[in-house]
Amino acid sequence: MNAPGLTIGVFDSGFGGLTVLRELLPRIPGARYIYLGDTARLPYGSKSQTTIARYAVESARFLESHGAEHLVIACNTASALALREIRASVAIPVTGVIDPVVEAAHRRHPKGDVLVLATSATVQSHAYQIECAARGLRASEKACPLLVPLVEEGWCEQPVTRDVLRIYLREALAGCTPEAVLLGCTHYPLIAPAIASTLLELGSQAEVIDSARATAIAIEQSIRVSHPATAGTTTFQCYATDSVEKFARLGSQFLGESIPHVELLDLGG
Ligand code: DGL
Repeated sequence: MNAPGLTIGVFDSGFGGLTVLRELLPRIPGARYIYLGDTARLPYGSKSQTTIARYAVESARFLESHGAEHLVIACNTASALALREIRASVAIPVTGVIDPVVEAAHRRHPKGDVLVLATSATVQSHAYQIECAARGLRASEKACPLLVPLVEEGWCEQPVTRDVLRIYLREALAGCTPEAVLLGCTHYPLIAPAIASTLLELGSQAEVIDSARATAIAIEQSIRVSHPATAGTTTFQCYATDSVEKFARLGSQFLGESIPHVELLDLGG
């Protein structure tokens, strides 16, 4: 479907949310995308709820004031800990990543057991568990804090990443037998093949479900209702709150294409 003239704001703590933008671009062409990565203040995954909410609200207001008509909270940590505060601070529709991926898991495995892999802050919030329980899914949650730095180092294929995954997944599978594993962090889609093969190696047949793709599909469906399909040109503009060179370099791995221009933004401390 096309959505000419529609401006979609995408927010993440850094580059990781570009995995969501990557899924959105082919699904909703013709839209204008504005992406904000709060790279100066990442990682969010180890911060408190109050701090995450403050940072996320500032970013959401920035995107709304720059014309966003629909806001996508691509960051799992901000979706888990600040969605209520973000919704209260802007006047546009806001979609987080948790509801769509839990809904996708529920459709495929109603009443099933799922395992959620996420940052420490997301796991401590139990936002996934609460959302799963509301749909009759039993969720185990596993914090995997070492995975974000490994992915940002570009070590998706390195043996050390496989070793770390093996430890996390072995620990998690000692307490559950999931039918689905939900990737509850922006960075994990980049190591989805390694996660799937490590699960198999450990004797699990669990299906890996990606929150980036599930979110893009949910947004496509909701926008199809409000914006009838016509032709248009897709554009995207990226803002980062720290080094624009680093954003363009690392971000292109997450987006899967080069990022020609990044605007530096100061949101304060
Ligand atoms: N974007 C975060 C998430 O999806 C991961 C990086 C961070 O901790 O800021 O949870």
